Amino acid sequence: MSFRLQPTPPARPNRCQLFGPGSRPAIFEKMAASAADVINLDLEDSVAPTDKDSARQNIIQAISDIDWGNKTLSVRINGLDTPFWYRDVVDLLEQAGDRIDQIMIPKVGCAADIYAVDALVTAVETAKGRNKPINFEVIIESAAGIAHVEEIAAASPRMVAMSLGAADFAASMGMQTTGIGGTQENYYMIHEGQKHWSDPWHWAQAAIVAACRTHGVLPVDGPFGDFSDDEGFRAQARRSATLGMVGKWAIHPKQVAIANEVFTPSTEAVAEAREILAAMETAKANGEGATVYKGRLVDIASIKQAEVIVRQSEMIAGS
Ligand code: COA
Ligand code: MG
Repeated sequence: MSFRLQPTPPARPNRCQLFGPGSRPAIFEKMAASAADVINLDLEDSVAPTDKDSARQNIIQAISDIDWGNKTLSVRINGLDTPFWYRDVVDLLEQAGDRIDQIMIPKVGCAADIYAVDALVTAVETAKGRNKPINFEVIIESAAGIAHVEEIAAASPRMVAMSLGAADFAASMGMQTTGIGGTQENYYMIHEGQKHWSDPWHWAQAAIVAACRTHGVLPVDGPFGDFSDDEGFRAQARRSATLGMVGKWAIHPKQVAIANEVFTPSTEAVAEAREILAAMETAKANGEGATVYKGRLVDIASIKQAEVIVRQSEMIAGS
C-alpha cells in the first residue's frame, strides 16, 4: 500500500439502483416496495421538457409522502448544460423533506461541474437550515467525463457513488452502436475462423473502478436497455462485479432481482473466502507467508482478496 491509504467507501448496499421517471408518479409506490437498495427518481432524460415542473413537484411530494423504508433515496437532476438543473436543486432542497439522501448529477465532464452544484447545494442547505447534508452521485457518460474521471471522483466530500451511463457515453465517444450496454455485434475478434465477442465497456468500467477506489467512492454499472434479455443483463452484471463494481441500475423492475443476486457474494464464494482465510491463519501459525489451497497458491494478498468478499457479504447481511 502507498503511504496514502485507500479510503473505504460508504458501507451501504448499492446492489441495484431502480430508476423511474418523475413524470410517472403512479409507479413510485411500486419502486418503494421493490427490493432495490437505491431508488433514483428521475428529472432528466426520461422526463419530457414540458413535464419538468410537474415532475419536480411529484418528486418533492413523494419524498415525504411515501415510505421509502431503509432505501437510499436519490433524485437525478438535469445536466449543467440545461436551463433546468438550478431549479431542480433549489426546489428540491427548499421544499423536499429530509428523507432525500442524494442528488445524482448526470453528464459530468470535470471537477468544476461538481464544484458548481456543491456551491449551490451548500448555499440552499445553509439558508434553509437543513442539517442532513446531501450526498452526490454522478454519471460518467461522456468523453470528457472518462478523461477527467479521477478529478471527478475526488471533487467533493459529498461524492459517494459514480455510474457508467452506456448510452450517452457511446454517443459522446462516437461509438457505432445504438445498444445500451451489453454485447455489441461488431466488437469481436477472429480466432481460428470463429468470432469471439469482446466487451467495449470494459476499459471505461475499469477506469471508473480505479478512480472510485482511489477516492472512497462506490463504482456502479449503469443501465442495460434490453430488459427482455435477462441473460444479457446477468452477463453484463457479472462482468461488472468481477471488475470491482458494487451494483447496477435497473430500468425495469424485472432487473432488480438479477442485480441483487449477482452483487450479493454467493454462499459458495463466501465459504471459499473463509476457507482461504483459515488456510492462511494456519500458514501464519507455521511461520509461512504462502500456502496451497485446493492445489493453488494463496498468500498474504489472498487474505485481502478473500476479505473483500467476506466484508461485502457481512455488510449486505447486516444492512
Ligand atoms: N419501477 C417500478 N415499477 C415499474 C417500473 C419502474 N421503473 N416500470 C414499470 N413498472 C411496473 C408497471 O407499472 C407494471 O406494474 P403492474 O404490473 O402493477 O401494472 C409492471 O412494472 C410491468 O411494467 P411493464 O408494462 O413491463 O413496463 P411499462 O411499459 O409500464 O414501462 C418502461 C416500461 C421501460 C417505460 C419503464 O419501466 C420505465 O419508465 N423505466 C425507467 C426509465 C428511466 O427512468 N430511465 C432513466 C434512466 S436510464
Ligand atoms: Mg444519460
